[in-house]
Amino acid sequence: MRSYIPVVIALAWLGACRGQPPQPDQQALQAARDSIQSDSVAMVDSLFSPEAFDTITWKSKTDLIDRGSTVYRISCSQCHGEGGGGKASFVFRGDTLSTESFLTKDWPLAQDPMLLRERIFTGNVAGMPHWGVIGLHYRDIDAAAHYITDFLRVNYGEK
Ligand code: HEC
Repeated sequence: MRSYIPVVIALAWLGACRGQPPQPDQQALQAARDSIQSDSVAMVDSLFSPEAFDTITWKSKTDLIDRGSTVYRISCSQCHGEGGGGKASFVFRGDTLSTESFLTKDWPLAQDPMLLRERIFTGNVAGMPHWGVIGLHYRDIDAAAHYITDFLRVNYGEK
């Protein structure tokens, strides 16, 4: 008589489980994501070639800053602010990104022009895009870097 009880329990259990997809382990997912991002940063960094800047010339300083301003407005300002002061809460591919100011007096990259170009080329795990492989030629990376150091910092930087 009692033999049907386990069957009823099993059916009830199955019923309760139906419609609930397995929950992903959030910590494991985040760890996988971090490792994928740092692998892709390392891969792009391995493609960076400092010599590519040796042959870049500009007709004039005005020409250079004009180009830098165009590149900056199109590719950088939405995350870094029009004036380079940084910006909070830009949502990009589902991530909320915040950026720090380029204008602080002791901004580390101001002292190292090639490292600045490398960082723009490569991007980072915090959400900075890999510009060298997703749409900016070395020449435009050069223009954007000059625009930050020779225009934005000169005109709006902390004195
Ligand atoms: C989708 C948003 C986004 C865009 C667009 C973007 N950045 Fe970034 N950038 C970031 C984030 C996020 C960081 C990391 C936080 C920080 O250092 O402010 C960052 C960091 C940087 C850094 C500091 C890197 C370091 O290692 O200290 C530089 C320099 C930089 N960006 C330059 C640029 C330039 C130049 C452009 C345009 C060609 C650009 N960024 C476009 C999001 C963006």
